[in-house]
Amino acid sequence: MGSALRFAGLMAVCACVSLAAEVRAQAPRATPELDRKVQDFLDAERGKWDYLNVPYQDGKILHDLVVKGAHKAILEIGTSTGHSTVWLAWAAAKTGGRVVTIEIDRGRHERALANLKRAGVAEYVDARLADAHELVKLLPGPWDFVFQDADKEWYLRYFRDLEAKMAPGGCYTAHNVARPYARQVIEFLDYARKRPGVSFGFAEGASGEGISISCWSR
Ligand SMILES: C[S@@+](CC[C@H](N)C(=O)[O-])C[C@H]1O[C@@H](n2cnc3c(N)ncnc32)[C@H](O)[C@@H]1O
Repeated sequence: MGSALRFAGLMAVCACVSLAAEVRAQAPRATPELDRKVQDFLDAERGKWDYLNVPYQDGKILHDLVVKGAHKAILEIGTSTGHSTVWLAWAAAKTGGRVVTIEIDRGRHERALANLKRAGVAEYVDARLADAHELVKLLPGPWDFVFQDADKEWYLRYFRDLEAKMAPGGCYTAHNVARPYARQVIEFLDYARKRPGVSFGFAEGASGEGISISCWSR
């Protein structure tokens, strides 16, 4: 491994270790003004997202799951330009949480940063430009909520890398599971369904892409 890569790995670990403290220290909760700003942004952008982003109703489902479960430490794999991230960050603003989101494509990552700022939720997000294959392994957790929406071929591997880092009561969601685009999505679903102590189901009211939900017992 090159020294530059080793240094980047070390920095990622340091940044991750401080995450729990940051979640605890995070200050302002959602206010009516913030709610209005985010909702206006989401309404204005509705139907315009064009970088493989989740549809509006799937974003709302993610938001509602986080708020209902009072989840704080949130991980998203696959930011793209940030539609689902805005929904997750809005939920984090309500629970006192924070979102770490990972995107490998610099252009999309930068557009996501701009969108998060416009939506008013940038301070609830730690957006990483990185290969999730590497970074997911380095992030220590524990995670209260995971949303995976990146490369479908890696779904099972992400899940296996993260399952030991899920907090009691934590939930792991995955997009594009209703019409699996890759054999590995089916393998992921088979594996997730059989985890002892982990409930498994699909989100009601989701788009035709589908969202699976695995939740750990408390
Ligand atoms: C379906 S899109 C995510 C959409 C986003 N969740 C939303 O709703 O706005 C999948 C994203 O995962 C990213 N991706 C694919 N492989 C990745 C990897 N190994 N690490 C990080 N990001 C990856 C792609 O560049 C793409 O932007």
